[in-house]
Parts: sequence; C-alpha cells; structure tokens
Amino acid sequence: MAQGPKDIADSVAHAGLAASKVKTLLASGNVITEACVPSFNEDVCISCRLCEVICTPNAIKFDNEKYPQINLAACRGCGACAAACPSGALDLPCLTTEQLLEATKAAVLNNPVRPAIVGYLCRWCAYIAADRAGTSRIRYPPNIINIQVPCTGRLNTETILTAFAEGADGVAVMGCHVQDCHYRSGARYAKSRTDTIREALEGAGIDGRRLFFGSVSASEADQFAEQVNDFVNVVTKLGPLGREMMGKVTRTQSADAEEMTGG
Ligand code: FES
Repeated sequence: MAQGPKDIADSVAHAGLAASKVKTLLASGNVITEACVPSFNEDVCISCRLCEVICTPNAIKFDNEKYPQINLAACRGCGACAAACPSGALDLPCLTTEQLLEATKAAVLNNPVRPAIVGYLCRWCAYIAADRAGTSRIRYPPNIINIQVPCTGRLNTETILTAFAEGADGVAVMGCHVQDCHYRSGARYAKSRTDTIREALEGAGIDGRRLFFGSVSASEADQFAEQVNDFVNVVTKLGPLGREMMGKVTRTQSADAEEMTGG
C-alpha cells in the first residue's frame, strides 16, 4: 500500500521485489552509485541566491561568500537548482540543459503523429507508470514522445517553450503526486512553473490547455494512460499549433529570458 492501493497478490509481489532488491544490495557489501550533482560556472553566476532558496536538502549555501557553496554529499541530484538558475551558472551533468533541449527537438522532429506531444516524465513515478502501461499492454495514444527527467523540478522554462517553438502541439509534464515527490519540493516547483508558463502562453494568444501538468504514482499505469488520453483529446480538438503561433512562442521565450535576467 506504500505506492498506492493494490490488491493482496500485487502487494505480496511488490513486497517480494523490494525484499529481493534489499537482499542484493546487502549481499554486495559495497554500493557504488552515480553522483548526479550540479556543475557550477562562476563566470556567469549573478549571485541571485535563488539556488539557495530552492534547494530542499539545503545542499547549497552562500555562507557570506559571493558564489554558492555546494555540499555534494547533501545534494540529491534533482536538478531544481539548475532549472531555477536564471543565468545558466548551474547545470546538471547527468542531464544538462543542452541535452534536454536536444532531446526535446528530437522528440518533436521524430514524431510522425499529429498532434505531436512531448512528455517529460519523472524517473521515479510517471516514467515507471508509462513503462508499466507498456508492459501491461494498456493502450494510450502514440502522439506522446516521452523524455525521462530525474524530477519534474528539473524542467526549466526554456525547455518547455522550446518544445512549442520546435513545433509540438502540446507538452505534458508528468511526475509523482505533488506530496510524494522523491525530492520533496520538485513537483511543487514544476506545478508552479507550468502555471506561470501557461499564463504566459495565454498572454501570447496560445491556449494554455496545450500545457498539461499531471501526477501519477509508479503503480498507476491506468491513470497514466487515462491522463495522456484525455490530454491528447484536448490537443486534438485545439488543432495544430500553427506557424504563426510558433512565432509567438519564440517571442514569449525571449521576453521570459529578458525578465529572468533583468535584461
Ligand atoms: Fe517525481 Fe519529483 S521525483 S516529481
């Protein structure tokens, strides 16, 4: 029941799986994990301290210094600091902003189905639910191309707007239930960011329903498929974003960048 409601057979199967994973870890003696911690470029840092405010495990502190002091042992690698950094001084080497943008462009370009939707799924819940939907043969529309992110909090404004500017008709940001985010605040940041972007899109004459924020737990494959299905239906009714709208997205992106940098 820790993941969500399930029957006795599923509960027993999941408990067995969890126990065997723990057993494997204990048997190995040493555990080596990939360090996914932010990189920092002081040449472009503007000392805005946003990273310090946003870092939930308090891994980033200024301590009267000009630049952030990053406690790599405390960092959990969610990427929320990189997403919030207005100057690009912080990045996440295991999923850089450049990689996110390239993956976004490829997802739009390689999607032969229209309307084309880019889905950003957190690795802990939404991506697993999507995977589970696939292995359980739960059908959902092929319009969505999924990109895995460590947490929805990793998604910056530029990435979402780039998806639209590249020709996506809709963008889905899907993660854990907000209160269940594995990094505590990432999903909350992502929800608030998507709300702000939705308002900006509407201000530019683009229907805000093209940007969807969804939440599922890892076991909710049905709900994942249902949410994608509903979103695809909404975007299908709205029709293609259109070339003139892409121009507006590009202008919104420039305005957003200017606002964040104070330029
Ligand atoms: Fe899933 Fe943060 S880890 S949304």
